Formats: sequence, C-alpha cells, structure tokens
Amino acid sequence: MKIEVLGTGCSSCKALYEKIVKVAAEIQSSATINKVEDITEIMKYNVMATPAVVIDGKVVMQGSLPKESQIKEWLSNTNILDKKELVKQRYNDLALVSDAKSKCCCNPYAAELPSKKVYTIMSEDYSKLKGYEPDADLGVGCGLPTQYARIQKGDTVVDLGSGAGNDCFIAREETGETGRVIGIDFAPQMLAKARNNATKRGFTNVEFLEGDIENMPLADNTADVVVSNCVLNLLPEKDKIFREIYRVLKPNGHFCISDVVLNGHFPKEFTDNAAMYAGCIASAIQREDYLGEIEKAGFIDIKVERTKTVTIPDEVLEEHLDATTIQKYKAGNVGIYSITVTGKRPVL
Ligand SMILES: C[S@@+](CC[C@H](N)C(=O)[O-])C[C@H]1O[C@@H](n2cnc3c(N)ncnc32)[C@H](O)[C@@H]1O
Repeated sequence: MKIEVLGTGCSSCKALYEKIVKVAAEIQSSATINKVEDITEIMKYNVMATPAVVIDGKVVMQGSLPKESQIKEWLSNTNILDKKELVKQRYNDLALVSDAKSKCCCNPYAAELPSKKVYTIMSEDYSKLKGYEPDADLGVGCGLPTQYARIQKGDTVVDLGSGAGNDCFIAREETGETGRVIGIDFAPQMLAKARNNATKRGFTNVEFLEGDIENMPLADNTADVVVSNCVLNLLPEKDKIFREIYRVLKPNGHFCISDVVLNGHFPKEFTDNAAMYAGCIASAIQREDYLGEIEKAGFIDIKVERTKTVTIPDEVLEEHLDATTIQKYKAGNVGIYSITVTGKRPVL
C-alpha cells in the first residue's frame, strides 16, 4: 500500500504526514508513506484543497484532517496482495535479524529490524533431532511435521515455506542420499540462508527454490511427501494451497503439516494487526474450516495427529495491541491451537 500526503508544506500538511507515520508505526503497517509538496505533482491528482491523502493512486480525503481511527482503517485495509508482500518483507527482515544476531550485531540494519518475539512463541525444541542444523533453526515453526510424515529412504520431500531450511535438514536425514528434498520459499533472504546452510553441510540432494507456494515451480506428481511448518496460515486463500499440494503430490503420496488454527471469533482489531498477521496468528482460520478445506481438495485419511494450545504472552499482546483489544480478546472465550495434520492423495 502506498500513501501520499499532498500539501505545499503547510503546518497541517506536515502534522497529517507525521500522524500517519506514527499510526503506521504503532500498528506495524508495511505501507509506504510519502509527502508530496511539489505543486505540479499535486495538481496531477486534481485535488481542490490540501492537505489531501492519496492511497494507491486514489484520492481518499481532501481539505480536512482525518481522525486517528480513520487512518487506522486505511492502514488496516490491506488487500490479499499487500498481505503477501507484508509476509515476504517480514520474513526477509527476520532472516536479517538472525544474521544480525549470529554475526554479533554487525548488520547495519540491526537496530531497525522487528522484534522476533511474536514469531517465536510457538516453536518446538529441534535440538535433539537427527539432522538438526542450528543455523537453520530460527524458532519460527509451530510443530514438528517430520515427526508424523513417515518419510522413507529415497523419497522426494517438498517443504512449503522452508525458511532457513530447518525441516529440510531433518527430512534429509530420513530420505538419505538417495532421496531428494526441495524447500520452497518466496523470501530471498530466507533462501540465501537456507542455501548457505545446505552448502555448509555439503548436501547435493537438498535444494531451495524461489517461488510462491500457491503456484509451485514443480511439475504435477513430483512429491512422495509434502511437509510444512507454520506457513499455510499465512496464506489468505487456503483452498488454493490445498489444491496445489494435491497437484504436486504423487497419487498415494501424503502430507504432514503443522499449522495454526483458531476456535471462536477474534476482535477485528486483533486479526487486522500486521505483526499478529505475519506472526501466523491473525491469519489463521477456524479448525473445522481448515479441515474442511483439506477434504474439499480431495484428500483422504485426514487425521489430526497432535494439538497444542498456544498462549500468547501478555508482553507480546501489549507490544502489538491496545488495551481495549487485549481486553476484548481475553474476554472472548477464544482459543489458538497448533495442529499437526496428515492426509493422503488417493489413487483414482
Ligand atoms: C513461519 S515461517 C516458517 C519457516 C520454516 N517452515 C520453519 O519452520 O523454520 C514462514 C515461512 O514461509 C514463507 N512463506 C510465506 N508465505 C509464502 C508463500 N506464499 N510462498 C512461499 N513462501 C512463503 C516465509 O517467507 C517464511 O520463510
């Protein structure tokens, strides 16, 4: 989302620009916000009065000052493409944060990067698993999909939203040298970390492809097993992704996915929050709807292997939400769960 504040440098124009920047920072919006002060540029928008606000090329207000609630509404009104872009940007940044930490703060952007807390509240301890690669473990998963994935020697395994490669290296332990592991991610910084980790381990049968998992760069019937850890909840259109998993799995192939699901209805201010969204919480759907989407895509033998309750610590809630939203959320009798679910593509 691109927001432009039009005005020829008047004090109310400056104040409006600063107010939008402040609200955007508070709700962690990914919108780009610019001031336009050049009169020729302003005239291109045909506005009759300034200050004016233009969102993605469309004038949404002119000659008056919006309330904070109006600005929040503009910023929260993120469409599907913006949401994907937000996720890509946040996970790119997160890869940089982990670099900044592991390289002892020599990353020049370290101070500007987001806090990791909201992304890591659901992570599992991977450190005792065979194949564990510490540099691939950013703590951003919500389960252990390989645990129920029944991976055999020689299998082709595809990991959706592979991050720095954490589950790919565990899967490689199980496929052995005769198998193949393919991680797919759309965040270039994550891919760079994952490829670096594979090179370091000397693996020639673990590869990382850049791509959107809703439209995978893979032929039909490629995989024996699909795994994924805390990713599908980031996709606004769950039906699309389950159809795509069905396409890339071989007949009789199966998946094991750890993901976040919800029970009960959450306050809109909660689900609109950008950090909660990118942290895999706000974008999750109801458990029954989630399982329904898997069934609709044509899978059989669907089984929830494990359910874990997710508790968001107060400090994380307080960092991202206002007091009223937190109160509504706590009073709402709602639940957040990490589930690990398996299913099979039938032979038709
Ligand atoms: C919560 S992290 C999980 C990473 C990894 N599975 C793990 O457990 O360490 C989500 C990852 O999915 C990727 N991702 C999200 N949406 C995607 C999409 N539509 N296509 C490809 N990758 C995506 C993000 O870039 C990020 O690396």
